[in-house]
Amino acid sequence: MKKKLDKAIISMICSTLIMSSVYLNMSAVSGQENFPQLTDKESINGVIAAMTLEEKAALLVGGNTQELEDDEDEIIGDQAERVPGAAGETQAIERLGIPSIVLADGPMGVRIDPTREDDANTYYATKFPAPNALASTWDPELVYEVGKAVAHEAKEYGIDLLLAPGMNIQSYLLNGRNYEYFSEDPYVTGMLATAFVNGVQNQGIGTTLKHFAAYNQRADNTINAIVSQRALREIYLKGFEMAVKSADPWAVMASYNKINGTWATESEELLTSVLRQDWPFNGFVMTDWEFGQRDTSQQMNAGLNLLMPGREEQVESIVNAVQEGTLDERIVDRNVRDILEIIVETPTFLEYDHSDVPHLAANADVSRHAAADGMVLLKNDERTLPLKSGLTVSLFGTPQVEPMTGGRGSALVYPPYEVSIPEGLENKGFTLDQDLYDKYQTYVAELRATEEFGQIGEGIFDTTFPTLPEMDVAEEAIKAANESDVGIIILTSEFGSYGADRSLDDFYLSESKQKMIDDVSTAFEEAGKPVVVILNVEGPIEVVSWRDKVDAILLSWQPGQELGNAVSDVLVGEVNLAGKLPQTFPIDYHDLPYSDRYPGTDDFVYEEDIYVGYRYHTTFDLETAYEFGYGLSYTDFDYSNIRVNRNGKFKDKITVFATVENVGEVPGREVVQVYVKAPDGKLEKPELELKAFNKTKELQPGKKENLKFELDAKNLASFDENLSAWVLEKGTYEVKVGASSEDIKGTTTFSVKKDMMIEKVNDVLAPEVDFKRLSKRDNKG
Ligand code: BGC
Repeated sequence: MKKKLDKAIISMICSTLIMSSVYLNMSAVSGQENFPQLTDKESINGVIAAMTLEEKAALLVGGNTQELEDDEDEIIGDQAERVPGAAGETQAIERLGIPSIVLADGPMGVRIDPTREDDANTYYATKFPAPNALASTWDPELVYEVGKAVAHEAKEYGIDLLLAPGMNIQSYLLNGRNYEYFSEDPYVTGMLATAFVNGVQNQGIGTTLKHFAAYNQRADNTINAIVSQRALREIYLKGFEMAVKSADPWAVMASYNKINGTWATESEELLTSVLRQDWPFNGFVMTDWEFGQRDTSQQMNAGLNLLMPGREEQVESIVNAVQEGTLDERIVDRNVRDILEIIVETPTFLEYDHSDVPHLAANADVSRHAAADGMVLLKNDERTLPLKSGLTVSLFGTPQVEPMTGGRGSALVYPPYEVSIPEGLENKGFTLDQDLYDKYQTYVAELRATEEFGQIGEGIFDTTFPTLPEMDVAEEAIKAANESDVGIIILTSEFGSYGADRSLDDFYLSESKQKMIDDVSTAFEEAGKPVVVILNVEGPIEVVSWRDKVDAILLSWQPGQELGNAVSDVLVGEVNLAGKLPQTFPIDYHDLPYSDRYPGTDDFVYEEDIYVGYRYHTTFDLETAYEFGYGLSYTDFDYSNIRVNRNGKFKDKITVFATVENVGEVPGREVVQVYVKAPDGKLEKPELELKAFNKTKELQPGKKENLKFELDAKNLASFDENLSAWVLEKGTYEVKVGASSEDIKGTTTFSVKKDMMIEKVNDVLAPEVDFKRLSKRDNKG
């Protein structure tokens, strides 16, 4: 409470200061009668010419009026005043008709405060599946629909710009923000981010690609990522490049970290040479919520437009730098122009009359559908699933009381309700083992009432609950196995705090969880009844030590507010699963090439280079628990007719064909993946790289679909650091069409006659230090 009051007082003082500075500016020009007004794109030049230096600087600095607490080095955005709880806003210059625009998170839906003081209305938003769950659909059309639904809510709540999609690469398994991102693969990331951006922006709301770039440790935002130019271009920047080129996002958020020695927000090479020249990007760039820790002039020169959430000192520093001659006012004008060009597109500028009453019921359906489609069936022995509705189910695991529907921190969303798994099962006509259910309710309530397991902190800053040990169910399991038809165990991730990465305690199941699995599986096996595990987790966990004990495993990820309904839709087979993993499940964390280095401090070297995720596993022959692209269905598919056109001779592109037939007994969809193994030449190549994918329409049993994939030169090219160019090296390219990265159904080839230079780019972002990169050439023999 005190924190709130302090903030309110500071906020009043600060706004008075800002107001008086704008007032002074106005009186300085009060001789003019009619100020030019921002009316459209064409009016921008006149408006810039009429702006005072102070006004320009104010536009480049967010409108935050809250102060940073002493013990915080960063505040998650909730600084907007026009829409309470939204992340931030820009400053208005009223005399010139420039409105303030509102920015809100985020990757799982609109994050704003659900209630407001002295206001009986509510402002809930739909909680959609986490991006890694969305990515498991491999369905750009569905992701487009989710983007459209999020945009509708944002627009109706008065938001102009969404701080999403998050699109970093899940290169490190324990990164605490991986679930805010799509995949370990840049092509999947680029395709789905493009779909999301289009879905949002077609509704007249902007998107922000974040966090640009190589931001892969949550525990330390200030780490220096040391990455090769090749890994940057092929892995870490690729998805951003695809989305910039094909979806024209309004904004990009530069990340907190350094890349090869330079802060991302101060890097002209990143923000200008790559983003604006090589690609080129047409929107504006903002900082992450860094509260002015960096060199303002350097940021302005680098091509950073908007400093968020903004501090008055930053305005002063821009003004002073121009007056002292260390910052060219033309740079300031350039940066202002980029922002104004977006402002004229926003709902606020266009005076959109938002209702504050979005279609939450319709969007709940979108969320439920996306959640079900994003689930992945990891195991289904003897076709345990689908289950007949009406069965009696015994539910094990504390997550039946405390499900994990979604993210934390800036990815938090306040939904109108959440459907737990027991509720979802009941909605679907299952009968619950009531005794067991009641025991869990009491067990959780009692533990949460203790000091040891009570909630630590409140709100978005710290939503940490210590993880509960699982209840000892040795006796309950025997009773349940006799009295019910099926046992369902729900496992969640350990609750992490906002500011941390995942820990190994989250990857490996705790002893009490292992014991629960043992007790339940033994009892149900003796009774001849199946056990299904639902993995309600934020990222891959260890499965090999326990998976043989259970009959089926369904990965739900963090599926949003409709968790229970979506799980039930899938369990009864109303939705036939087609989800596939966008991230590898390794056998053991210590198998991973970076396991002894991550998360590191200060300088973190990306030694594994281009061998990220399945690129590593397939090239270095490391077995996985569940490989990239893996996922079962309730039906089976046959692949045939895998071939390429032009007799396998590459010109500027090549077309791959495949036919998929549903040879099972129920309708279903299949995600067909096209991998390429490029020939080693001057550059070494990973064993497999995903170059295209497609999802069939729903195929009835016995029905076929012919699929066609176009691979163009840029998509197939590798990045040659010596030439600073994308090149397609000559040789034979193997095209592998499959149901996953390890389940290849057919291989064909095409050939490239001579080396081809595909695209020359700026020679930038080179590491300052030499380091040893992982190379398969070192591993021969
Ligand atoms: C997060 C961003 C988020 C911003 C505004 C930052 O702490 O890193 O992802 O968009 O806060 O809430």
